[in-house]
Amino acid sequence: MLNTINNNLFYLETYGCQMNISDSEIIISILLKQGFYLTYNIEKANIILLNTCAIRENAKMTILNRLQYLKSLYQHKKKIFGIIGCLSKIDNEFFSKKLVNFSINPNSYKEIPKIINYIKQGKKIEFHKNNKIETYENIYPFRQQYKVTAFLSIIRGCNNMCTFCIVPFTRGREISISPYSIINECKKLYNNGYKEITLLGQNVDSYSWKETNKKNNLNFAKLLNMLAIQLPFMRIRFTTSNPHDFSDEVINIISKYSNICKHIHLPVQSGSNKMLKLMNRKYTRESYIYLIKKIKNTIPECSISHDIMTGFCNENEEDHKYTISLMNEIKYHYGYMFIYSPRPGTYAYRQLSDNVPYKTKQKRLQEIINLQKEHSYFNMKQYIGQIQEVLIEGRSKKNDLYWYGKNTQNITVVFPKKNYKIGNFVNVKILDFTSVTLIGNIIN
Ligand code: SAH
Ligand code: F3S
Repeated sequence: MLNTINNNLFYLETYGCQMNISDSEIIISILLKQGFYLTYNIEKANIILLNTCAIRENAKMTILNRLQYLKSLYQHKKKIFGIIGCLSKIDNEFFSKKLVNFSINPNSYKEIPKIINYIKQGKKIEFHKNNKIETYENIYPFRQQYKVTAFLSIIRGCNNMCTFCIVPFTRGREISISPYSIINECKKLYNNGYKEITLLGQNVDSYSWKETNKKNNLNFAKLLNMLAIQLPFMRIRFTTSNPHDFSDEVINIISKYSNICKHIHLPVQSGSNKMLKLMNRKYTRESYIYLIKKIKNTIPECSISHDIMTGFCNENEEDHKYTISLMNEIKYHYGYMFIYSPRPGTYAYRQLSDNVPYKTKQKRLQEIINLQKEHSYFNMKQYIGQIQEVLIEGRSKKNDLYWYGKNTQNITVVFPKKNYKIGNFVNVKILDFTSVTLIGNIIN
């Protein structure tokens, strides 16, 4: 028995987005069911898996460096190395450098046990191609027990083909997960003490599910409505929304239910119509601003966050200024900002020229980061003196005597613990702030 365990111990590292965190929970579950054992100690593991991200070149380099380091560390030990997730679909470099024994794409995780067993029998597997689409509906993800918040994929893949983005190539076409499976999992989570779920997808707003032989389809608004009613004591979040697909129906549903959190992540990428067109984003600066106005009118307390990319092909100073002015108009609560990184296989990589000098990209990035910081301060200041309902998620990283949690707008709040526990909802009076954190005291 001990021998089997030692032979089947796997260690998994996760890189990239929330979808990858959620996928890793599915992968662990698949392996545990097939007689493998999870270890958090890399030394002990004889199978090392990296769940990878391909979104930008630096994500790929991080993983390449990590693999090279691990290979050199364990060169005399017989360990099986595998890369899974988005990088596996695009990169042969890992094989030519003999860094991995196999790779598996996001639609083939069910094959991992079989492939590891083949390798153990001395068979050569290498690049595993499988283009079928997979929802993993029948697998209950393995989740660490002390948590009260969980991720749940409701739609996989992406059909949008933004010209800069590799996701449609690495994750394939969109496929929605059945509402029965979603509700079942949410109820299990609730019964296991979870208090908040985040519905995940590259584009949650294009969720669409149709029962065989029935006319009507279930869209994202209807799914949200159903979950809000069936899980009255659970907080519900979702990410990411594509502005192009965000409907009035969704805005109304968010405003109607107090258990749907008042935060929308709405990546804009650029404030210039010329750039949005080149990116194939299918909305304009004006329609985006109009959408934000509708959200603010219907849900005044709603926080909005963004993704912005600087230095995409042909971006000039005027385009950059349009982005700055859009940010000034909206004053986002927070955002994620990136330098454009050409990705092999995308339209932009094949057809457009990456012609903005790196220094200019960096300068523009720094400008938008600084501006976002000002806007974050501006928004955080408004909370002073207010009472916020917070779900306690864990111990504050900076101070052992403090809890941290989130308010409905997805802003982190820290406060002295008193006698409360992880999973409690508490009312916190806000007394101070930084650009990313609110600081207060429980007043229950
Ligand atoms: N589905 C989301 C985006 C997922 S990727 C949406 O609708 O926008 C997350 C973010 O990474 C994107 O919003 C974009 O800002 C950034 N990104 C994607 N491809 C990139 C690239 N090639 N270079 C730099 N940043 C990129
Ligand atoms: Fe990428 Fe655009 Fe889809 S950014 S994930 S192709 S919405």
